[in-house]
Amino acid sequence: MASYFVTGTDTGAGKTFSSVALLHALRAGGASAVGMKPVASGCEATAGGLRNDDALALQAASDPRPDYALVNPYALPEPTAPQIAAERAGVRIHLGPIVEAYRHLQGLSGQIVVEGVGGWLAPLADDLEQSDLVRALDLPVILVVGLRLGCLNHARLTARAIQADGCRLHGWIGSNIEPLEPRYIALVAQALPVPCLGVLPHAPGVPPATLAANLAVG
Ligand SMILES: Nc1ncnc2c1ncn2[C@@H]1O[C@H](COP(=O)(O)OP(=O)(O)O)[C@@H](O)[C@H]1O
Ligand SMILES: [Mg+2]
Repeated sequence: MASYFVTGTDTGAGKTFSSVALLHALRAGGASAVGMKPVASGCEATAGGLRNDDALALQAASDPRPDYALVNPYALPEPTAPQIAAERAGVRIHLGPIVEAYRHLQGLSGQIVVEGVGGWLAPLADDLEQSDLVRALDLPVILVVGLRLGCLNHARLTARAIQADGCRLHGWIGSNIEPLEPRYIALVAQALPVPCLGVLPHAPGVPPATLAANLAVG
């Protein structure tokens, strides 16, 4: 039983796709698992309030199903960097409300998957790094490598940055956002200092929940 922070080699690397698969993989043994997207920019206004697609996907992949506000304490309308989206919404992003929502989720489940924003060094606010959140929640980090040409560089840079920030890199997940030759994936595996927890095949249109068996976690 463990909780994880999920970062990626970039935005669009497959963090949400992999986090949904991960939530289902964590539940394979029968235990509960819930998702969280603490800061989400790009939201739709609904009757229930602002809603973000990533947060909705994580909420739907959660069992038990937490209230939306616990999954996504900072829902920002504009689809841009959190610093800009927050400024335009007149919001200041602080660690406190995120940690408080996380503590509530801990009351629901011993397994929480927290999806970050963009890549590792994308700031949450002028004075708040994702590494600050990871340290505050004391979470091991899973790096999602969006498998496409060029990801070898991004994966190595990100792994170094996570470790240089004093955070614990637990493992990596490959998500084949493009079909990529196995030899290249083997190079990524060789270059990263932590085990591969699984590779999700290029599966456009396939619900990531059905790919949970590709991941070895628990
Ligand atoms: N293994 C995969 N096969 C097919 N499509 C994928 C795969 N992984 C990710 N995608 C697609 O790539 C896009 C970006 O993935 P997403 O999980 O939203 O990235 P992130 O959360 O890192 O921004 C989405 O449209 C997603 O469905
Ligand atoms: Mg996402």
